[in-house]
Amino acid sequence: MAVIAKQCPGIKVTVVDVNEARIAAWNDENVENIPVYEPGLSDVVAEARGRNLFFSTDVDKAIDEAQMVFISVNTPTKTYGAGKGMGADLKWIELCARQIAKVSKSDKIIVEKSTLPVRTAEALRDILLNTGNGVNFQVLSNPEFLAEGTAVLDLLNPDRVLIGGDPTEDGQSAIQSLIEIYAKWIPRERILTTNVWSSELSKLVANAYLAQRISSINAISELCEKTEADVNEVARAIGTDSRIGPKFLKASVGFGGSCFQKDILNLVYISRSFGLQEVADYWEQVIIMNDHQKKRFALNIVKDLYNTVSGKKIAFLGWAFKKDTNDTRESAAIYVADELLNEQAKIRVYDPKVKEDKIFGDLDHLNTRSPAENKKYIKVFEDPYRACERAHAIAILTEWDEFKDYDWQRIYDNMLKPAKIFDGRNILDAEKLRAIGFKVKSIGVK
Ligand code: UDX
Repeated sequence: MAVIAKQCPGIKVTVVDVNEARIAAWNDENVENIPVYEPGLSDVVAEARGRNLFFSTDVDKAIDEAQMVFISVNTPTKTYGAGKGMGADLKWIELCARQIAKVSKSDKIIVEKSTLPVRTAEALRDILLNTGNGVNFQVLSNPEFLAEGTAVLDLLNPDRVLIGGDPTEDGQSAIQSLIEIYAKWIPRERILTTNVWSSELSKLVANAYLAQRISSINAISELCEKTEADVNEVARAIGTDSRIGPKFLKASVGFGGSCFQKDILNLVYISRSFGLQEVADYWEQVIIMNDHQKKRFALNIVKDLYNTVSGKKIAFLGWAFKKDTNDTRESAAIYVADELLNEQAKIRVYDPKVKEDKIFGDLDHLNTRSPAENKKYIKVFEDPYRACERAHAIAILTEWDEFKDYDWQRIYDNMLKPAKIFDGRNILDAEKLRAIGFKVKSIGVK
């Protein structure tokens, strides 16, 4: 919404949330304190805030005044009841719909921005029309394809914008209203329109395809570790085939983030609910492979440290699910840490952007052990060199650029020997580190 406000000074954008602390943070005088770390975002907020971008907790007033309402609440995987661990929890979506219906006194276009299971628009429409005050609602699907860490650039220059709407005259005119907003800065040919269901499904499928590429190359990485093949060379060799393409072929400790796993689980759940067992099993394998990769990385560390890490210090460089973000949702680091904590390792974490309370929160949330035990075995550092001091091994969990430029000789000198590095992102120069004396294990290289 900040980027829409930046690009369309003539449109008033009000972002509302019931969480007062969060809205206060978005209104913080110092734009560097906004609650999301994303390159370029604070500049966008600085430019538009107070001009045509506002953050408020007055939800009803904002709904009442709006001609278009974007629903952007979270749709986590259900943790209870039917579809537990698989389907999306639509509780927040429904509450939004009911509130919009109650407050609205004029016709509105409702835009699904949250990622939703196919046919959610139907449920939305049902609630809006049956509980509303007789006003007209058009429901559009407008999934978001930005990636974290590059969100502002992705929004300013997207490959495509997708808008799904009804084939009726009113539906088409609602689509046109949304097109006019994006067309202020995006070439018209990159704005695709479909029916609502195709648009909803396309979002899940795009994420499933991307995640599938990572699981595919990660599957090959394990085979490479058993043979003389090098996964980086294989990725380059296949990626130059223009039909395959070079992107999303980086073998890693496993994908994380708020979207991939959740959206695939959703796809699996929907397929299964229609009785499409083979379709469901096919996509579920992407998750199974990813879980295997995370676990394998942790168990390789144990194996390499003479089959025991009990009482040993292992330094984690990186906790975020990818670089240039402070987001840790579903980060591989959480699961690798959990596995190593089961083996009684002592973990020392450094991440340039993730704060200590988030790291403990992530582990406590797993419920594998008590918060007190997590506190006992994990220590968070603000200085990477301190985190690595007297460690038996270092594990790279996030591909932060700064890791490449560390004084590795200094780190080596202060570690226990043999000093081991497990590069879960293949970002370090293994030959250079070996010349210093490190024992280096990369993903997909024997
Ligand atoms: C993803 C989609 O890319 C985006 O279009 C959608 O809107 C939201 O979900 P995001 O989760 O922000 O975006 O990050 P992405 O760059 O896709 O990375 C996801 C995970 O895959 C990260 O953990 C990343 O490190 C990992 N990854 C990515 C790999 O392990 N290898 C790769 O080659 C690419």
